[in-house]
Amino acid sequence: MSSTTEEIKSRLDIVEVVAEYVKLTQAGSNWKGLCPFHNEKTPSFLVSQERQYWHCFGCGEGGDIFTFIMKIEGLEFYESLKLLAKKAGIEIKQQNIQTINLKNKLLDINELSKKFFHYILQNSHSAENARKYLEKRGIKKETIEKFELGCAPNFWDKSLNFLKSKGYKIEDIFLAGIVVKKDNRYYDRFRDRLIFPINNLHGQTVGFSARALNKEDNAKYINSPQTEIYNKSEILYGLDKAKNSARKKNEIILVEGQMDMVSSHQAGVDNVVATSGTALTKQQIKILKRYSDNLLLVFDEDQAGYNAFRKGSQIAVFSEAFKTGANLKAIYLPDGQDPDDCIRKNPKEWKDAIKKAMPYLEKYIKQALDKFDMDSVEGKKSILNFMKILAIVPSKIEQDYYIKKLSQILGIDEECLREDLENIKEKRANTVVKNEQVVAVKKDGSLKLAEQIIALLLKYPDSASCFKSNLDKEIFISSDLIKIYEKFFDFYKNKKIMGNSEDFIDSFKESNEQLFYFCEEFLLLAEKDFSDFDKKEAKEYIVEHLKKLQKFYIIKQKKILENKIRKAEEQDSEIVDELLQEAFLLDKKLLELE
Ligand code: UTP
Ligand code: MN
Repeated sequence: MSSTTEEIKSRLDIVEVVAEYVKLTQAGSNWKGLCPFHNEKTPSFLVSQERQYWHCFGCGEGGDIFTFIMKIEGLEFYESLKLLAKKAGIEIKQQNIQTINLKNKLLDINELSKKFFHYILQNSHSAENARKYLEKRGIKKETIEKFELGCAPNFWDKSLNFLKSKGYKIEDIFLAGIVVKKDNRYYDRFRDRLIFPINNLHGQTVGFSARALNKEDNAKYINSPQTEIYNKSEILYGLDKAKNSARKKNEIILVEGQMDMVSSHQAGVDNVVATSGTALTKQQIKILKRYSDNLLLVFDEDQAGYNAFRKGSQIAVFSEAFKTGANLKAIYLPDGQDPDDCIRKNPKEWKDAIKKAMPYLEKYIKQALDKFDMDSVEGKKSILNFMKILAIVPSKIEQDYYIKKLSQILGIDEECLREDLENIKEKRANTVVKNEQVVAVKKDGSLKLAEQIIALLLKYPDSASCFKSNLDKEIFISSDLIKIYEKFFDFYKNKKIMGNSEDFIDSFKESNEQLFYFCEEFLLLAEKDFSDFDKKEAKEYIVEHLKKLQKFYIIKQKKILENKIRKAEEQDSEIVDELLQEAFLLDKKLLELE
């Protein structure tokens, strides 16, 4: 081993490094936790402080601090060396810029850009505007420094020229997300904006979120694209600064905006991270769970806030992490305030709102009672329907507790509630087409399959290309699925679907709330059943299973036809020939699908 690796090992404690990824508890002279490399419910992952070695008795993996980082971060040895060297405060001899690998190059470019933007904000005359803006919003000097906020100057090539002058190639600057390319010309992505550097867990800068300084700017925020080093579904803004506090308090608060996060840290509440305005993902929940068992989400007390709350809690509840005992709570802020508004008005109000955070199922009940009349039978039914999440919550303790509670509130026998919940769970399955051609189906294999295909289509809209235009929509069986399918292709043909189906799903919000929730559920279903699929696998799955679904449908039609033929024969009817002809065509279709 080289002296650099020895030096790193002597400076870093493996327990501390591992604890950034795995929740460890002391067990004698060792530390114990759930193995991050395989799924388990009881900890068999051990870290020895004395030997500076880790081992999992469940999956047999083990090694030193380097193998741990290589495995968990998916890095090559050299990259993990660099990462750990930085942690240990050791300089590695500056390698020739051309030879270091791409990820490191992109990290370096982002790091340098961050310093550049920060310098401009602190020193440049052209950043006067930005400094005034921050002052107006009550952001203090220490905060600007803590988060290394910056300013992108109002030029088209300042960042580009700066990075070029430091020896970086234009293609790499592009891959790092700092410049955009149009008609073979490159120019600065961020211009005349306030810059929030976005860091990964280790404090390395992987991208930026840039806020407009002028109201006239049509995009309020411009963000770095997804790059080799910036995976948007995993990064949480501010986690590098919040993680220690989150672990200490065993509580982590999730806000939407970077300004909310920065403001909250400034007000002394520092176990806060931001999603940067996008929907919470399963991966993010998994990462947060490493630091605390208590996840607090912030919402607005209005319709949009309620919807976000339902969506966020469903994603959380479906995620693996919740099966191992995380708690989800909701913080509510009044009058359409976001945390930053609230803090600026009165920091104490923010702290009080956090103290008053409610377990999410408690909040569900409260919303249901606000919305419906608990004294009428109709009201009681609607309340139970609103509470249908109870049918799927992974914690049986929670489920039992809230069913009992609801039973007391509604004055309805507990067992009745349980039965009705089961029925609600199955209800969607039974909304079949009231079409004489289709036999009523229970939630059998084909309906499940139809749901999966629609779920995948919503998650990977690109797979629309797998659906032939002459596909018989009736194969999707349930009238809701058929509606979603038809509407989707209307939308798709008008080129309104780009990349994801969020806009499409949102279009149901006004017109058909029921379908809106179905679509949301389908997205979750896709998360649940196909979390490890990529676009290509999604397409392959769809092509293969569309065929199956078509076959199911034809076989069902054949059965109906056979019944008709039998009857027609009994009555000696003339239509027998016609029906036989139809059956013959169905057989041909079946053959074509083989
Ligand atoms: P908000 O619109 O709530 O902004 O978006 P904000 O955080 O309150 O910002 P201020 O207080 O007006 O300055 C919440 C988050 O959504 C993302 C940003 O990360 C923002 O912080 N967002 C918003 C975008 O990425 N693009 C946008 O155009 C708007
Ligand atoms: Mn705000």
